[in-house]
Amino acid sequence: MNQKVADAINAQIKAEEESSRLYFAMANWCDMNGFPGSSAYLYAHADEERMHMVKLVNYLNERGSHAKTQALEEPQNNWDSIQDVFKGVLSHEEMVTSLINNLFEVCMNEKDYLTSNFLQWYIQEQVEEEASARTVLDKLELAGSSQGGMFHFDKEMEAMAAAAATAGNA
Ligand code: FEO
Repeated sequence: MNQKVADAINAQIKAEEESSRLYFAMANWCDMNGFPGSSAYLYAHADEERMHMVKLVNYLNERGSHAKTQALEEPQNNWDSIQDVFKGVLSHEEMVTSLINNLFEVCMNEKDYLTSNFLQWYIQEQVEEEASARTVLDKLELAGSSQGGMFHFDKEMEAMAAAAATAGNA
């Protein structure tokens, strides 16, 4: 396999694992700050990011390359508010979208059309993940900042987590 493509996929493997750890840290924060529904949603999202990583690892190994298990940065562990948490989710997903776009560009430049094809799944996934993050922010805005609004918001997040679990994704 082309080494530039393999290196770029290994970088994405690291980014997906770091995404998983960031959402895990966010889920912990929500759990400790009275948002059990949001916590369930983010724990499920952390699992989904791990699945994104494993899918890349399997692909790299299937193509005869070698996926690396890499050292990771410590994720952010504290946020000012639940709004701050979910704004963080959207900006993180926008960053991941740009990483996926760059990875796709490396594949095109190296004429690795098999990998470009494989990455279509990730491109579509980013459309859905950014849309979900925007939906959550809309719900937060509608909820306002009253205790009742926050309670209602968190119940909606619990329902979103349950629906995602039924559908097999977060
Ligand atoms: Fe794997 Fe949410 O990007």
